[in-house]
Amino acid sequence: MTIGQRKKDHVSLSVSGEASYSKPVGFERFDFIHNALPEINLDEIDPSAEFLGYRADVPLFISSMTGGYTEAGQVNRIIASFCQEHQIPFGVGSQRIMLEQPETTSSFSVVREKAPDAFIAANIGGCQLQEAIQRDQVNVLIDAIQANAIIVHLNVLQELMQPEGDRNFKGILQAIAALINRTELPVIVKETGAGVNGEAARKLIDAGVSVVDVAGSGGTSWAKIENRRRHLEYHPFDEWGNSTVNCIIEANQAGLAKNQIVASGGVRTAVEMGKALCLGAGFTAMAQPVIERIHHGGYEALETWYKELKHQFTVMMCLLGCRRVDDLNEGLLRNEK
Ligand SMILES: Cc1cc2nc3c(=O)[nH]c(=O)nc-3n(C[C@H](O)[C@H](O)[C@H](O)COP(=O)(O)O)c2cc1C
Repeated sequence: MTIGQRKKDHVSLSVSGEASYSKPVGFERFDFIHNALPEINLDEIDPSAEFLGYRADVPLFISSMTGGYTEAGQVNRIIASFCQEHQIPFGVGSQRIMLEQPETTSSFSVVREKAPDAFIAANIGGCQLQEAIQRDQVNVLIDAIQANAIIVHLNVLQELMQPEGDRNFKGILQAIAALINRTELPVIVKETGAGVNGEAARKLIDAGVSVVDVAGSGGTSWAKIENRRRHLEYHPFDEWGNSTVNCIIEANQAGLAKNQIVASGGVRTAVEMGKALCLGAGFTAMAQPVIERIHHGGYEALETWYKELKHQFTVMMCLLGCRRVDDLNEGLLRNEK
């Protein structure tokens, strides 16, 4: 099976809804404390937030998803046009295919054409990073999209579920440190849905990583995606992973600063974005809700969804009496357990 075909399967399984974790993200353990006297007007609220020096419309990053085949180019074109219009930072999907099949480059480079001013992150897997560094290919990834940052994704669970996946996971941290030495761009490290635990987050920051996107469990399950691709209705690793909420809390306990933590993995609503920020993340990210809107209704569906999300995020800030995103803090939450 070609990489392109595999990626198509990933998208169709993810939009089918069959590939989500059954276990919760963890947000239900916390509730906001309603403020009956917020002493603020809705139109005073500023929901914008900063991400690595870029002023974003709301604290939301569109997570890395796709590239490398014709339809992926179309999806990237929609994401890029949307992000240019609404000032939302985003990442392209894994650029590994571009290194193996340079003719697929245009499905990635289209994002810079459509989003000349956006914050765009390149993407490569931890398993492929070592080879990309040895072959001096890092700049190929960056230059294709004139990237503002590089994302390295960690996906040990997914690789191990894939019969054709990688089996060698030694030396990834060292390769990340080598990447940091070679580039002036900020390096972001993310999981893909099984979560970065506190200890791993600490090691990454100590190695010089700028931001850790925890990408925890509760949203897209890569074990389920890979196992359903093989027509397995159940697999013992389907629910494997650290919940996003536990990852945020652990990253905090490991001493990461707010602006070093992105919360993703099953974040689906404005209220969940708010809870993630109060628990200690500086920014949030989503993948599946974006691809699902695009799949079912293209740019318009994505924009309609986003406008409602932004409105609800602003309403939530009003209910909490918060004028700025920086005002969201742990004291606004009640632990229900
Ligand atoms: C269709 C699809 C393709 C993805 N491809 C990539 C990828 O190429 N690189 C990457 O870092 N993450 C990839 N991811 C993982 C997401 O970036 C994200 O970490 C994960 O889906 C959890 O977020 P969610 O629960 O909001 O979907 C992909 C996710 C989806 C749904």
